[in-house]
Amino acid sequence: VAPLKVGIAGLGTVGAEVVRLIETQARVLAGRSGRGIRVVAVTARSKAKKRGVDLRGVEWARDPMALATHPEVDCFVELMGGAGDPALSAVEAALSAGKSVVTANKALLARHGLKLAKAAEKHGGALNFEAAVGAAIPVIKTLREGLAGTGIDRVYGILNGTCNYILTRMEQEGLSFAECLKDAQRLGYAEADPSFDVDGHDTAQKLAILASLAFGTKVAQSAVYVEGISSIAPEDLRAAADLGYRVKLLGVAVRTTKGIEQRVHPTMVPKSSSIAQVMGVTNAVTIDGEGIPPITLVGPGAGGAATASAVVADIADVARGIRANPFGRPISQLRDTKKAPMERH
Ligand code: HSE
Repeated sequence: VAPLKVGIAGLGTVGAEVVRLIETQARVLAGRSGRGIRVVAVTARSKAKKRGVDLRGVEWARDPMALATHPEVDCFVELMGGAGDPALSAVEAALSAGKSVVTANKALLARHGLKLAKAAEKHGGALNFEAAVGAAIPVIKTLREGLAGTGIDRVYGILNGTCNYILTRMEQEGLSFAECLKDAQRLGYAEADPSFDVDGHDTAQKLAILASLAFGTKVAQSAVYVEGISSIAPEDLRAAADLGYRVKLLGVAVRTTKGIEQRVHPTMVPKSSSIAQVMGVTNAVTIDGEGIPPITLVGPGAGGAATASAVVADIADVARGIRANPFGRPISQLRDTKKAPMERH
């Protein structure tokens, strides 16, 4: 069988790690996929930057659009980020050409997910985005495949590694918000514009994606109430601790009689609760399903290696020929968040 030919747009920490994993894990991946996976072309802002990966024999495409429509590329991997162009046009072009797309771009999916899923459905390519939520934690697959037969009542958790890292260090070391944020940036956890992390928008984007998968609603970031952590000071965390609580930035999506409620805000959680034990860059997602005790997934929520792990798994699915409905159902079955009726879907 011919190998799957991959084009990668964006060679930052995640992109470089994806190239490295495809090379070092080649045998394992070929065993799982039944065929080889080969990076044939890439594009990035700087060609000269040292990345520590072997790109000999790999073509440099002129720009993301040229890569997305490259005749040799079967699977376009978008790791540039950002809800607009160039990511949006390039992903649309790849899908329209019938190619499969793998992306870690939660901002793009929360804003344009429905349109992109429609394009994937129409032209037959896959649209995989496991890395967009919870990095290496397989939460998309869990909701879409693992719990396909279970009605979901609630999905909630810690979805932003940067915020949890900041809150943890502020509480434990009494450091200022600004110092902790700087470290989160240095460690490669934060978004290019870290206000997306600390103002709660990154969590809202991820929550909108999870809610769509859990409840069969149209993904829409605008349906999420958002409040971030930027006004929290070490004193607030100490005051909460004195009362036996810890502050966590939570994203919560819940089925109510009026539709699906989605909100992001700092929350006081009892120190003895399991969610209070989730520290540092770790994410945790709890899923309350009909007739089963809650399921919680915990793991690294940000960082190059954790994100690349999920991207490579998505590429392996494309190589195997697995093509899921991006949001778990055919587009025609997805409902508006506000109008979603009260029964489980
Ligand atoms: N900035 C994000 C976070 C990266 O801190 O969680 C992973 O999506």
